[in-house]
Amino acid sequence: MSASLPTGLITALQSARNVAVLTGAGVSAESGIPTFRDAQSGLWAKYSPEELASPAAFRRNPRLVWEWYAMRRAAVLAAQPNPGHVALAQLEQLVPHFTLITQNVDGLHARAGSRALIELHGNITKVRCSVEGTFCSTWAEGEELPPPCPTCGAPLRPHVVWFGEQLPLDALQQAWIAAEECEVFLSIGTSGLVEPAASLPRVAYSHGATVAVLNLDVNTRSEARLFYLHGRSGEVLPQLVERLMEEQQ
Ligand code: APR
Repeated sequence: MSASLPTGLITALQSARNVAVLTGAGVSAESGIPTFRDAQSGLWAKYSPEELASPAAFRRNPRLVWEWYAMRRAAVLAAQPNPGHVALAQLEQLVPHFTLITQNVDGLHARAGSRALIELHGNITKVRCSVEGTFCSTWAEGEELPPPCPTCGAPLRPHVVWFGEQLPLDALQQAWIAAEECEVFLSIGTSGLVEPAASLPRVAYSHGATVAVLNLDVNTRSEARLFYLHGRSGEVLPQLVERLMEEQQ
């Protein structure tokens, strides 16, 4: 069941010249990509993502970590953007100043057409040298895993932010500014448990923005300037964008 759209949110979006959106794994759930706090399946059921996505895990067992990311990379490349991703790319076209901040590393927002995009946690489809940081566009999944950097021979690693690592400072600064300056902030498909992204809705709210939270954890309710919507992003976001397009005509 999807949430009905609160008039206050539609009105705020209609008049907003600056909108920021934060997305998390829930936005890609309808593309078949499991969220982080879902149980892992199959081979990986005995590991938690926290045990695999860290510099310590990579030092301890680089092959295991590489193989987990190789599995996830293949899943992401086989997946397609869903109507929620598409709606956010459309929303970008309706708003004069728009920023999409994602914690997702799956690249699906860009594939759906989003351009004003900050990938706070990196992008799993990209690989870089674990020592020099240089990107590597091709590598062999051969005997030696992780594959060696073609320049220096150090192990390659996924271009993602692991637990215990700093987020890229410029991306974080841009996200913070977007939260401070927007008039409407949408937090979609994220449990809001991982900092610093989890603070962005609060930053926006404390700077006067209207804030809406859409996921499967909340009950639908609203207070002044604060809307909670229980629903699937692949259903609710297309309705939201359709409503805004209708009202524009
Ligand atoms: N539509 C909207 N929301 C959904 C949907 C859906 N179809 N399916 C699930 N959700 C919601 C859940 O209700 C939950 O609130 O998506 C959220 C998923 O939460 P998490 O699995 O915690 O994912 P996320 O918030 O993105 O995790 C943040 O944690 O593990 C790290 O770095 C990783 O970027 C990740 C970060």
